[in-house]
Parts: sequence; C-alpha cells; structure tokens
Amino acid sequence: MPRRNKITIVGAGNVGATAAHWAVQKNLGDVVLVDIKEGLPQGKSLDLAEAGPVMGFDSKLVGANDYDATADSDVVVITAGVPRKKDPVTGKFTSRDELVETNRKIVSSVTKEIASRSPNAVLICVSNPLDAMCHVMLQESGFPRERVLGMAGVLDTARYKTFIAMELGVSVQDVHGMVLGGHGDTMVPLPSHTSISGIPLTELLSQEKIDSIIARTRKGGGEIVGLLGYSGYCAPSASVVAMVESIVLDRKRVLPVACLCKGEYGYDNLFLGVPTVIGAGGMDKIIEMKLGDKEKAMLEVSANAVRDVVKLLPY
Ligand code: APR
Repeated sequence: MPRRNKITIVGAGNVGATAAHWAVQKNLGDVVLVDIKEGLPQGKSLDLAEAGPVMGFDSKLVGANDYDATADSDVVVITAGVPRKKDPVTGKFTSRDELVETNRKIVSSVTKEIASRSPNAVLICVSNPLDAMCHVMLQESGFPRERVLGMAGVLDTARYKTFIAMELGVSVQDVHGMVLGGHGDTMVPLPSHTSISGIPLTELLSQEKIDSIIARTRKGGGEIVGLLGYSGYCAPSASVVAMVESIVLDRKRVLPVACLCKGEYGYDNLFLGVPTVIGAGGMDKIIEMKLGDKEKAMLEVSANAVRDVVKLLPY
C-alpha cells in the first residue's frame, strides 16, 4: 500500500518547529516532532495541525516525548541541543569545549533512539558545532556516510545569495553559487563560481563589495543574534527543508551539504561542506569541482577548524 513520507524532527524549538511548518506547507509528508520538554512537541504539532484546514495541507502531525512514534521514518532531522549561554554569575559564555561535550551527549542519545527505530532513514544534523555533531551521528548510528548529512552550506549559501541580490537589486532566484567548507567563520564562499543568471558576479561587483558580502555572510548567524538576542530560525529551517524535499521527492538537487569526505577534495574521514547530489538515499554523490589556489587554501583553513573541534570527541 502506498504510504506517505514520514519526516521526524527531533527538537521542537525554533528551528525544529519552523521546519515542521515549512514541510507540511509544502505537503512533503507526515511529521513527528519530538522534544525532551513535556507538552512542547505536542503543543507545536497540534497548533500546526489546526492551521491545516486554513492553509490546505493534510499532513498528519504528531508530537511526542519518546521515540516510538518515529519508527520507520524516511528522514530524521536532529536539531536537539543547547545554545551557548552566558553564565548569570560570572558573565562568561559556555566554552566551545563545554558546548561540544553537552551537545555530543544529547546528539549521541538521540541518534541511538532514532537509528534503532528507523534503520533506513536519512539523518540530517542541525545541532552545533555542526561538523563535529555529524561525526557523532555517523558513529552512533552506524549508518553509511550517504545517509548522514549536515545542514550548514544551504543556509550559508542562502545568506550569501540574499546579500548579493540586495546589493544588485535583482531577484534572489537568479543568483547562483555556493558556500563550501565548515560551518563557522572559516566557511568558503566561491565568488569566482557565482553568477547572476550566468553573468559572472565578478563582472557586476567590485572586489571590495564582494569582500564585504563575504564578510557579512561569515558573520550572518551573529548578525541575527545581535538583532534578536537569539539565533535565527526561518532561514535555517527553510534550508533543512530544501534538503528534506530533495530526499523525499528524490529531486537530485545539487546542494552544499556537510558530508563525510573519503578522499574528495583531498580530505579523508572529515565532514566538510561540499557540493553534493541529494536524492532518496541521501547523498548520491559528491561533485568535485576545480578550485583555485586561494579557494583551496581557504578550504584547508576551514578543514583545520573542523579538525580542531572533532579532536574533542572521544572517538
Ligand atoms: N532530546 C530532545 N530534544 C532536546 C534534547 C534531547 N535530549 N535536548 C534539548 N532538546 C530540545 C530543547 O528542549 C529545545 O526545544 O532541543 C530544542 C532546541 O531548540 P532551540 O533551543 O529553540 O534551538 P534552535 O534555535 O531551534 O536551534 C537548534 O541548531 O544552531 C543549532 O546547536 C543549535 O541545537 C541548536 C539547533
């Protein structure tokens, strides 16, 4: 009997709940929201289900604090984690090492719960530090690398395209390009591979302008935190759903996704944002594009930054 796609989202916070919102609005399938907070996933999913008659979607929405309802999911998005916090007494922010350890424990336990119930699912990691948490998901699930993906590049690219479109006064639809590398200050935008409907970006903007767009893209997450006091979630959740859509509809979109490289771009056993073809089985393939010397050097800086965090993991 044909069945609908089943999408599980773990973490019914800002990114998770908004991802559910985009996913049902696009009629991508039924959605299970899971969170550790009692009432939160149930409340978010009921509220969203009640929008169905108005907005015209008929996805089934379930909220739960345990994992039984997630069984046999096609795609599982993991957003569970804690953000960096300021200690009210000392005024100090959580250190990177503390964040890695806290989120490693969360992502590790969530992945085990998920993998045992949905052994054929494609997993998408959103929890930070992204590239390191992808390693945790790969390790704890035992899944092949094709089915463990990280969402960062789609978001970084979306921000990059937004700033270019704003600068040129053109539709974002006509801006094409990608941001590779790790998620963080060392991400690698590729201006020499960016075009506006095929017209090279470098013909339309000065190097100075391009540099300022790249700098703004690198600090894109921080710019939103500075304005709101908490992380953005519309663009992050939309970016996750672009990946979910390409998987459940087997669209084979070419997206920058954090994947375990096995020799590609000269990196081995490291999650790094690279151009991939995303289809029903997760990553169909990594596309190896030619990079210039400057871009290769930037990717190396980015890979080193990822390695520094991965080193903190116990495997
Ligand atoms: N199991 C299930 N859910 C959990 C667990 C856990 N062990 N631990 C935390 N959560 C839930 C929280 O209760 C919260 O509802 O994860 C949710 C995270 O949501 P937000 O705090 O709103 O964070 P959000 O802005 O959605 O960011 C999601 O993206 O940037 C990354 O690392 C960051 O984990 C964060 C993720």
